[in-house]
Amino acid sequence: MVNKLDMSNSFNEKYGPWALITGASKGLGAEFARQCAQRGLNTLLIATSEDLLRGNVEQIKQTYNVDADYIVLDLSREDILDVIRPVTDNMEIGLVISNAGISTVHPFLSSSKKQLLTHLHINTRPSMLLAHHFGRKMIKVKRGGIMLLSSASANTGAPYVANYAGAKAYNLILAESLWYEFKKFGVDVLGFMPGSTKTPGWDLNNPAKSKLVNVMGAEETITEALDALGKQPSLIAGKRNRLVYFIMQRILSRKIAIKMVANTMEKLFGPFG
Ligand SMILES: NC(=O)c1ccc[n+]([C@@H]2O[C@H](COP(=O)([O-])OP(=O)(O)OC[C@H]3O[C@@H](n4cnc5c(N)ncnc54)[C@H](OP(=O)(O)O)[C@@H]3O)[C@@H](O)[C@H]2O)c1
Repeated sequence: MVNKLDMSNSFNEKYGPWALITGASKGLGAEFARQCAQRGLNTLLIATSEDLLRGNVEQIKQTYNVDADYIVLDLSREDILDVIRPVTDNMEIGLVISNAGISTVHPFLSSSKKQLLTHLHINTRPSMLLAHHFGRKMIKVKRGGIMLLSSASANTGAPYVANYAGAKAYNLILAESLWYEFKKFGVDVLGFMPGSTKTPGWDLNNPAKSKLVNVMGAEETITEALDALGKQPSLIAGKRNRLVYFIMQRILSRKIAIKMVANTMEKLFGPFG
């Protein structure tokens, strides 16, 4: 049994007893689940890959002496709350992490309308539905936390990931707005913007030339996110990413910032037809 972290009591008081984490079969979501358990929370994991979910739940239970469970659910569905509510109505969910997301790198017009819509739904709708449903419940008991996964790409035009970056901007602005609205009721909201982070999703997009960008590890990224909850409306992961953000947002013109993003994408993934 691995020892829980020292801060587990205060984290549990604020955000326990259960954390619900979407996209928790692998990547950042699996690491969120592990670190929430390490901080003393029971964890409810959601994704589509049942084998991975079952393995993560077993590992969490064995390692951290907390309870854990999972729901197999395709988050592109419209009716996700019809599946989530029967499981959670009698559970006290103190922390919701809307982490599931999907990205592909293509010129906008090379994706079909159907694919763009499916990705838009996965990347936005669950965040809105979960924040609305669990936000109401948390506000009634005057405690809890909600984290919505955005991306460093949400801050400026991002050619070749246009639909993804637009969806991530939605998550950022939704989270920052709710940070203010929910704060007075004792509920913390954070919009979290990872930069490039080593995960299966990142590997799939195959940046064979990833030396060109700063790639962080999942563990340090998620520790930063959980530590920032309750302290600020949003956070970009990593000092280096925060410096790049500062330069892009405060020093460069919007036009130049977008061209710089495009150049990096073309070097990493191009040439695009
Ligand atoms: N890694 C990065 O560099 C990076 C950078 C910026 C932002 N982010 C954001 O961070 C989050 C996690 O990214 P990641 O790199 O960990 O991604 P990942 O390795 O691809 O994992 C994505 C997770 O989302 C789940 N998921 C995808 N589609 C789903 C669906 N239709 N229904 C239910 N679950 C679904 C996957 O589970 P199943 O396959 O089992 O369904 C998986 O657990 C995403 O929101 C991403 O946009 C990541």
